[in-house]
This record gives sequence, C-alpha cells and structure tokens, in this order.
Amino acid sequence: MGMVFAGLKIRNIHIHPAHILAPMAGITDTVFRRFIKRLGGCGLIMTEFVSSEGMIRPNFRTQRYLFYQQEERPITAQIFGADPGHLADAARQIEDLGFDIVDLNLGCPAKKVVKCGGSGLLRDLLLLETILKAIRAAVKIPFTIKLRSGWSDNEIVALQVARMAEESGVEALAVHPRTRLQGFSGKARWEIIQQVKLAVRIPVIGNGDVFKPEDALALQKQTGCDAVMIGRAAASNPWIFRQMAEFFAAGTYREPTDSDRYEMIRTYYSMLVAEEIPGAIGKMKQFASWFTHGVRNGTELRRQVQSAKETGEVIDRVDAFFASISPNPGKTEAAVAS
Ligand SMILES: Cc1cc2nc3c(=O)[nH]c(=O)nc-3n(C[C@H](O)[C@H](O)[C@H](O)COP(=O)(O)O)c2cc1C
Repeated sequence: MGMVFAGLKIRNIHIHPAHILAPMAGITDTVFRRFIKRLGGCGLIMTEFVSSEGMIRPNFRTQRYLFYQQEERPITAQIFGADPGHLADAARQIEDLGFDIVDLNLGCPAKKVVKCGGSGLLRDLLLLETILKAIRAAVKIPFTIKLRSGWSDNEIVALQVARMAEESGVEALAVHPRTRLQGFSGKARWEIIQQVKLAVRIPVIGNGDVFKPEDALALQKQTGCDAVMIGRAAASNPWIFRQMAEFFAAGTYREPTDSDRYEMIRTYYSMLVAEEIPGAIGKMKQFASWFTHGVRNGTELRRQVQSAKETGEVIDRVDAFFASISPNPGKTEAAVAS
C-alpha cells in the first residue's frame, strides 16, 4: 500500500505519521494525550479548545488546559473566540508557552461558544478575515485552522474559508465536513474535503467518521487529503493510530485482546490517579462509556465503574471484572490457550 499518510510537514514541524488526534473538550487533556502518544502511531496531538477570553484573565482552569509535557511534542494548542485583539493576544501566549502550532477553532457548535466564536465565525467572513490576519501577524509559529463545512446546507463556506485562510497565511487546515446545524448527525460529507483539497495548496487534514483503518484509506483515496484526524474513535479505540500504521505498512492490523483492553483501561486510570488530576473519578466514569465499547459484557463493566465511589474502588472493580471474564488477564489470549 505504502506512503498513505506517511508524513506531513507544516513548515518546520514534522508530523510523522500524518495521523492527528482531534481536539476534544473534556477528553484530550494532558494525561489522555500522553496515553495516546505512548500507544504509538499518532504524529500530532492537540489540546482541548481554550477560550481566548479566559486567557486574558488566566485562572486555574485555563492553566490546566494549557499544561503539557515535552513528550507530547509536537503539540498544537487550539483557541477560540471572536475578538481579533484578544485572539491575537491568546496566540502570542500560546507561542510564549512553547507550543509548536496555534490552531483556531471554527467548528464548535455549542450555543455558548457559537456566540463568541467557533462555528459562529463561519457566518461572518469579514470578521473571520480580520481575525485570521490578526493572529497571523501576532505569532511566528505555524498557524492552522479547523472548520466545519458551514452553518447549514445552504451556507457551505468551506472552500471560501479555505482560500481566505491560505491568503491570510494559514499553513494547514482541518475540515470536519458537517454543518453547524447538523451537529453530529448524518454523515460527514467527504466530497467537501476533496473540493477544499483541490482549492488550496496548503495541507488539508481530513476529519470525520473515520472509525477504523479502512475508513482512513477510503478517506485518503476519495479526497486526496494530506493527513487524517481522528476524534471519537480514539476515545473508544485508542489503538486506532497504531492500527493505521500497521495497516498501511502491511495490509492488516491487530485487534486488541481482552488483556490488551484490560491493560489499556488500567494504564489510563492509573495515570489519572498518579497525576492527582482534579475530578479523576469523574473522568474515569466518563471514559468507562467510551472504553467499554468492544469489551465483552462491557455494559456490566460500565455499570461497575459508574457506581464506584472512589478511584481505588474503580481500579479494584476493573481488576475484578477482567479476572472474571478471563482466567488470566495478565497473558494474551494466545498465551492462555497454549
Ligand atoms: C466530546 C467532543 C469534544 C470535542 N471538542 C472539540 C474541540 O474542543 N475543538 C474542536 O475543534 N473540535 C472538537 N470536537 C470535534 C472533533 O475534533 C472532530 O472534529 C469531530 O468529532 C469529528 O471527528 P470524528 O468523526 O473522528 O469524531 C469535539 C468532538 C467531541 C465528540
């Protein structure tokens, strides 16, 4: 197969392989990002989106969003907002914090966010152009954007925005081809990614509805995009990046065994506990609904985690659950069988 998403350069930043973890609020914090990177196959990670308004009056929450460790590099910080001056200030702070890339969110459909940026900016292209130029002028590091296709089916602006971005000095763009009104319903319209790819010279990152390596290959074939970005599938199958690398190199990939899943869940939970993440138990419960997809009798595991009262209890219950479905969870299935 060869050379599918082998690598991408955004100016001086090497993304190798060109597999990108999508920003996901509430999910892609520093712990999750390191967890993903350690599993392999992911060339670039991004922070959750951070409010440029919040960054003017730095508080504990904003500082936590912007915390990262060296092993996470290369790393993009994503900001959102609607005030050109404040966004420029925020971008400067991102650069000063040592991030490799600054990204502007043009996709968030949440009502609270739309009023002050996110996909709301797709309805005000004049303001958007001012913002793109202000951020570009404020920083030297590469500047990227991530957009939905438009506000509604009658207002598809992805091509217009892509051209405007390229002219304003944006160095790559990620397209999630759903509209604001669509939310997460229906399908991502990959043909819009292809149209954007044909319209600009800067790298185009395809995003939306990639759930397995075969989907990533189909996305590349259909759109010619330069990189693939994966969101929801990474939360339920954090091996997807490695699976893509295996698939593109060898045409096949390994499915996780029960014991792989056990170790994955335990590793992530142990990282949350070890790093004394505030609200660790809440994160554990939230993740239980993602991670338990694909686990045999996963509903029971989810129920067990979600009714636990403290983090130690969660881990004990995970241990007990996997011990009950597999006589020897420390070994792979093959080793147990032999
Ligand atoms: C829980 C959740 C939180 C998200 N938060 C962000 C965000 O902070 N910034 C952003 O640009 N997109 C955000 N997104 C959108 C994803 O980055 C991505 O564009 C979308 O999920 C489509 O990709 P997928 O089909 O691979 O999930 C979020 C999506 C989900 C499910």
